[in-house]
Amino acid sequence: MSEAESVRVAVRVRPFNQREKDHGAKLIIDMQGQLTTIKNPETPSEEPKKFSFDFSYWSHDGFTERADGVLEPTAGSKYASQPIVFKDLGQGVLDNAFEGYNCSLFAYGQTGSGKSYSMVGYGNNKGIVPMTCDKLFQAVNNNSDPNKRFEVSFSMLEIYNEQVRDLLSKDKPKGGLPVRQNPKMGFFYVQGLKRAPVGSYEDIEAQIDKGTANRTVASTNMNATSSRAHTVVTITFDQIIKDPTGQEKKKSSEMNLVDLAGSERAESTGATGDRLKEGANINKSLSALGNVISALADLSMGKKKVMVPYRDSVLTKLLQNALGGNSKTIMIAALSPADINYDETLSTLRYADRAKKIKNKAVINENPMDKLIRELKEENERLKKQMEGGGGPIAGGVGMTAEEIEKYKEEIRLEMEENMKKMGGMSWDEQVKQSRQEAETDSGGKATSNKKSTVSHFVNLNEDPMLSSKVYYFLEKPEVTIGRKDAEPMPDICLSGLSIMKQHAVVTNSGGDYEIKPGAKGAKIKVNGMPLTGPRPLAHKDRVLFGSNHMYVFYNAQKPNAPEGTPPDSKLDWEFAQKEIAQAKGFATGSGAGLSKEQQIAQEQVLEILPMVTEVNAISEELDKHRSFEVVLISSAAQEGGVAGNKGTSGEAGIRVMVKMKNLLNGNTWLWERGKFMNRRYLAQELYQRFLDGEDAAVKNLPKEEDPFWEPTEDVLIGTANVFLQSLGYALDFEDTLTVTDYKGQEEGTIMVVVAPCNAKGNDLDDDSFVDSPEDLLGKPYHYKVTVQKAEVHKARFSKGVRIKYKVPTVQGETEEYTETPMVRGSLSPVFNHSKVFSIPVITQEHLDNFETKCITLMMYGLQEDSTPDPKLMKMTTKELRQMENMTSPQSEMHRRNTTFGLDPERDQSALLKSEYQLVLRKYERLEQKERRLQQMCEEWGNKKPEEQDFLAFHRAVHALAHSTGTKLKTRVQMLNKMLKGYKMAQVLHGIKALEEQSQQSQANHSDLLQAQRAVQNGNKGAVKSGKTGEEVGKSRACVIQ
Ligand SMILES: Nc1ncnc2c1ncn2[C@@H]1O[C@H](COP(=O)(O)OP(=O)(O)OP(=O)(O)O)[C@@H](O)[C@H]1O
Ligand SMILES: [Mg+2]
Repeated sequence: MSEAESVRVAVRVRPFNQREKDHGAKLIIDMQGQLTTIKNPETPSEEPKKFSFDFSYWSHDGFTERADGVLEPTAGSKYASQPIVFKDLGQGVLDNAFEGYNCSLFAYGQTGSGKSYSMVGYGNNKGIVPMTCDKLFQAVNNNSDPNKRFEVSFSMLEIYNEQVRDLLSKDKPKGGLPVRQNPKMGFFYVQGLKRAPVGSYEDIEAQIDKGTANRTVASTNMNATSSRAHTVVTITFDQIIKDPTGQEKKKSSEMNLVDLAGSERAESTGATGDRLKEGANINKSLSALGNVISALADLSMGKKKVMVPYRDSVLTKLLQNALGGNSKTIMIAALSPADINYDETLSTLRYADRAKKIKNKAVINENPMDKLIRELKEENERLKKQMEGGGGPIAGGVGMTAEEIEKYKEEIRLEMEENMKKMGGMSWDEQVKQSRQEAETDSGGKATSNKKSTVSHFVNLNEDPMLSSKVYYFLEKPEVTIGRKDAEPMPDICLSGLSIMKQHAVVTNSGGDYEIKPGAKGAKIKVNGMPLTGPRPLAHKDRVLFGSNHMYVFYNAQKPNAPEGTPPDSKLDWEFAQKEIAQAKGFATGSGAGLSKEQQIAQEQVLEILPMVTEVNAISEELDKHRSFEVVLISSAAQEGGVAGNKGTSGEAGIRVMVKMKNLLNGNTWLWERGKFMNRRYLAQELYQRFLDGEDAAVKNLPKEEDPFWEPTEDVLIGTANVFLQSLGYALDFEDTLTVTDYKGQEEGTIMVVVAPCNAKGNDLDDDSFVDSPEDLLGKPYHYKVTVQKAEVHKARFSKGVRIKYKVPTVQGETEEYTETPMVRGSLSPVFNHSKVFSIPVITQEHLDNFETKCITLMMYGLQEDSTPDPKLMKMTTKELRQMENMTSPQSEMHRRNTTFGLDPERDQSALLKSEYQLVLRKYERLEQKERRLQQMCEEWGNKKPEEQDFLAFHRAVHALAHSTGTKLKTRVQMLNKMLKGYKMAQVLHGIKALEEQSQQSQANHSDLLQAQRAVQNGNKGAVKSGKTGEEVGKSRACVIQ
């Protein structure tokens, strides 16, 4: 037996992708020799974290692209190309295979980090799997020893949702293929998995293509996210060697090449707060793998009594040997170079660090053929007995239905047949030939590639670039029907999955002019992002979406002229098609330029989540869940803290992408964080899959606690209003009726609120307690009272009850809970008269800054109840309800045009301006008082007898009174007055919304408006950045505040 050997670990960092480049992503990874370091972008001064691995591959930069697409290092660069990675990792696998060791290679890393690039590769940049196969057959073909022959077979499977799917087979057994344990040897295997005998590299390539195409179809039909699946390629390499005595020996090696699912952790998507735990099986295999690796690392470090939990998931069962036993194992951890992925990348590095501690003992698998054949015979005997026993102990025969028993027997029969083959029932060459023929018929073989240029066709687009351009549908008749398999007559192109109707679409061709039309009413089709309602011409390279996720590009072989504006093929990808759809829905999707970082992030999230929302809506319709979903963007103005309050805080605070769920029966709504929605989507997918698997009853009677579409009723956020606090800095009070707007900027009501300085007991201060400069408050205790007096709500459906919730701004070290008014029921004009006193023991500069720049966001919540729905609605299906909904509120999409991505700060600026205006008025009043007092003093002095006129005392008194306030105040008041007038106009115009309409206003109005808007903008900048703008208005405004 050989020495225990550590798992070898490599890390590889990929180049920035286009999106990262557009966003100006920062590089946080560095590599020197075996050392890999990672910088925390939040704490740039901190020492980077160091990791050391067997191999560190720098594939980030220092390369050029050859004409054939191959990436090569530039002179003197440390760029690690595919051949370099193969030389270190793949060659080792190959050498070991020849010696008769089992080998395993895993790729681990978050979605898009480069796992598939390393394992399989793209285009001419072939990855480890194809290169290993290529080299394997080169070596086999170079063999001149007549006493040696080779048998290579190939299998490819996918684990999705804890189910095993054979990617080389078109059959889709319900619940996937069973994973069984060999009772004698103990290892787990997939029963009935196809092993294709292969005789050349081309054979393997054909099998990989076939597997990938099957995977694409399955993932499209099931709406499965491919990056959530694990792909396992197994190459079995047998060498049969005749020794001089004529005895045959077999050296066997199993090479497992595993492209793991994306390793994103649940918390990174924000799903952790959900009532339902994360989509039960989604990452079960991956977390089980993590646990197995930890346990194995502990064992290798000498820890005793460690239980290795192989049985916890399908993946770990199948990889038991690879991980903790007879295998030479390599892990390649794929890293994203971008700052935005810091947390995930660090977690990948830690994972890899743990894996390198594992030690395995690989042995050479060499056995006399006689012995192997004897074993196979015994195995077949056992299987036969099992079959006769009608299920037998392993399958837990008790309680099996007749159908299940039949299925089980069929599996055993296949397995026995497989064993017979191994015993020499059919010669190896014959087996290879047979499998080659099968592959050829399945894929249409070489015919397909010739057809592409002569026959018009659809070719698929997939989220995973690996699965794009894998499925071709040729349009060989003048009229081609598209729909479900169960339609009568059967359509020419059969699709399945969500929202695909029996007769879904018809494409006609008349002399190279193509036209597409819906095959039935309500069939969901989009062409270049626009919903298709009737016939329309189909142009070369048009993007067509059938149902919720069958996305194809149309190629017109007869007239291959793409309309102007069609992007080049390299840009004609999934992302482009999704952007188009988003745009048609009213979401702006600018390119990187001109968008703030926050806007870019929001845009990316919208593009990611939109297809998911479409999909969940489709599931809701199919399962008749009476729920509708919609992506909403909560602009910073509508969030707690408002524009000013959130300036300077990072990322998330800017624009939040959320999903609104609506109960179509009673109008109740819920607002979900993006992560929570994604989690629910996985659960909804699981549910839908069960439904497809025939568990109708179970799906229908799902307890609501387990239902991803169910949520206890909760109060709904009607809208928000912001109170600015500048007046507190001058110890003045502020009273106003604020407009409450929802996330779309629509007015939903008003709140009357007073914010006033007070004493510790909450009593009002007397009139003279104001200060001329906020600095005068420094070092002193301070109290203020917030009174929510009453509100008005516009929409009758919120009459059940209304409450207001808010939090006052704090400084570092202070904590503050939310303050809530009681719920006032049964009124659209609720009266709260709710006051709370907030005390600051000692005022610091930070408090003053808060007063100047921050605000209190009053959040208005409406009570929702589980009311009994209208019986008329109850009779309608979800699909009908959703159609009705879209008809009655089409404006929701229109509205989005205004709020999309761009901040909607006007409303906050109005509030800010209003509070400033009041403040200035108050100060102006004070000034007038002072002025009067000065005049009075002068008069008094003048009236005094000359001998009583003490000039010094008089001067002191006048000086003291006059000193504190600037003369600019009056001008400022006038200016603000003007601005406010202009601003009101702007608001009215904005309400009417369209820019065209603005331009129709009189010229005078227009310039007035522009001026006012500019003034507003500058004014606000001044407030936020403490008045250091060069603009005239900003400057004078700053004077007031300082
Ligand atoms: N070393 C590399 N050199 C150049 N491009 C790379 C490299 N690694 C990855 N890429 C590119 O990055 C993108 C994402 O890579 P890939 O598809 O391999 O990610 P993945 O980890 O398999 O993601 P998923 O989990 O979604 O399957 C691809 O477009 C790929 O071409
Ligand atoms: Mg991949």
